[in-house]
Amino acid sequence: MRSAKAEPRSHKRHLRQFRRTELRWILFSDETCAGGDEGQKCGGFYFLTRPVLVVRDPALVVSILVSDFAHFSSRGFHTNEQHDPLAKNLIHLDGQPWKLVRPKMTASFAINKLRTMIPDMDRFADKTLEQMSKHSTVNAEDFSDKFMIDVVCSCLFGIDSEAIENPDSAFYEVAKKIFDGYHFSVHVFVGYLFPALHTFARMTVARPEITDFFKKVTKDNLNLRESEGLSQRKDFFQTLVSMKETQQNCNDESGGAKVCDEDFIVANLFMFFSAGFDSSGKIGAFIIYELAANKEIQKILRTEVLRVLDKYDNKLSFEAIQEMVYLEKVVAEANRKYPILLVIFRKCEKAYRLPDGGLIEPGINVMIPSSAIHYDPKFYPDPEKFDPERFSEENKSRRHQGAYLPFGIGPRICPAWQFAIVELKVFIARIVSKYELDLHPSTNSPLRLHPRNFLLSPEKDILVNLTKV
Ligand code: HEM
Repeated sequence: MRSAKAEPRSHKRHLRQFRRTELRWILFSDETCAGGDEGQKCGGFYFLTRPVLVVRDPALVVSILVSDFAHFSSRGFHTNEQHDPLAKNLIHLDGQPWKLVRPKMTASFAINKLRTMIPDMDRFADKTLEQMSKHSTVNAEDFSDKFMIDVVCSCLFGIDSEAIENPDSAFYEVAKKIFDGYHFSVHVFVGYLFPALHTFARMTVARPEITDFFKKVTKDNLNLRESEGLSQRKDFFQTLVSMKETQQNCNDESGGAKVCDEDFIVANLFMFFSAGFDSSGKIGAFIIYELAANKEIQKILRTEVLRVLDKYDNKLSFEAIQEMVYLEKVVAEANRKYPILLVIFRKCEKAYRLPDGGLIEPGINVMIPSSAIHYDPKFYPDPEKFDPERFSEENKSRRHQGAYLPFGIGPRICPAWQFAIVELKVFIARIVSKYELDLHPSTNSPLRLHPRNFLLSPEKDILVNLTKV
C-alpha cells in the first residue's frame, strides 16, 4: 500500500499496544482509526503483520462502499469450504458467488414482505410482555435476545423456536453458545491475517456441536415442508430451498462450483439466525438502557406510542409504525451510539487510486471504523450523549451519508436492515406502552462496554426495574 500521507503504524508499537489495551480500542479506537494526524482522509496500521488501510473520511467511505464498490466488493474473510458446512454463508462469501446469490436472498426482506411479518412480530411482543409481567426487574438483553430469536425463526424460517416461553428452548441454548468464548473471533481474525494457517488448522465458522444443530434443524425443516406440502411458503427458508432446487443463478461460472447445495441452506440458516438475533438483540437492550437512563426521552416516546396506538385501535400495522417518528429517531440514535459491528471490512480486488494519488493495491485490507466515525464530534457533537434529535429531518440532511454506518451502505449493506428496524420498533413500542423503565442500582451508568467481544456488548447485565403505566 502506498499513500502520500498515510504512514502505517509500526509493527512493534502495535504489538506493544495490543498487549496492554482493550482489543476493541486497539482495532477501532480514535487513535488507531484516525490513522494519524487530524484532517487525514485515511491512514494505516499494521494488524500484526498485515498492513490495513483505515478510512475515516465520509466522502472516501462512500467512494469505497458505494461508487467504487467494484474495487472493494469483498470482505476478505476466509473459510474452508471442503470441511465446513457453514462456510457458504452470505457474510463470508466474496467475489462471483456472492454476486450470484445476494439479489435473490435480499428479496425476502422487501418492504411488501416486511408488512406481512408485523402481526407475527407483534404476537411475540405480546408474549414478551406476558413473561415480563412475572418480574419487577428484568435483564434487558435476555428479553431482547429471546424476542429476536423467536421473530427471526418464525418470520424467516417458519420455525417455532419458543425462546420467549420455554426456559429450555434449544434455539436459545444454541444462541448463547455461538458467540460464547472466542471461537468466532479467532476464526475471523486468523482467517483474515493468516489464511494459510486457517486452512492448515481446518478452522471453522462455529464449533462442531453448533454446526450439527443447524444441520439437523435444516433437515427437519426440509422434511416437514416436504411431508406437509409447504413448498408454497414464501419465506426466506423457502427461497434458499428454491435456490438449491432450481440452481438458477447459483453456479459460479468462474470456478464451475455449485454454490447452492444443501450446505448453502445450512450455512445461511445459521448465519441469518446468528446475525439476526445477536445484533438486533443487543441494540434492543441498549435502547432499553438508554430509555431507563433518560426518563425525559422515555416520556416523549411513550406519549407518541400511546397516541398512535390509540389512533390504530391498539394494532401495530406498518402504517402505525411509520407514524411513530420519535421512535424512529430513538432507534437511529441507538444504532449511532452503539454500532454493533464497530468496523466495516473490505478487501481491495482491483487497484484503486486514492484522491491524494496513493495507490491501493489488490489484496490490501480496508477497515472503515464506524465506531470512530459515530463518535467524531465533527459529525456528532457531544457524542456520548444519547440525543434522538440528531436524527430530525433537518439534522440528517446536514450530515454526510458516509458519517452514519450502523448497517453499512452500498451493495453490501446489511440485507435485513429494514427488518431489524421494524422488529426493534415493535419490541420497544410495546414495552414502553406497558412499562415505565428505571435502571436497577446494579446497572452501570454510564454503561461500560465489554472490552473484547467481537460485537459491541455491555460489560455486565443491563438490569431494569419495571413499573406498569
Ligand atoms: C440492529 C441490527 C443489525 C445491525 C446493526 C446490522 C449490521 C450489519 C452490518 C454493519 C453489516 C456489514 C455491512 C457491510 O459490510 O457493508 C451487516 C451485514 C449483514 N447482516 Fe446485518 N445487522 C443487523 C441485523 C441483521 C439481521 C436481523 C439479519 C438477518 C436476519 C442480518 C444479516 C446480515 C447479513 C447476512 C449480512 C451480510 C451481507 C452481505 O455480505 O452481503 N443483519 N449487518
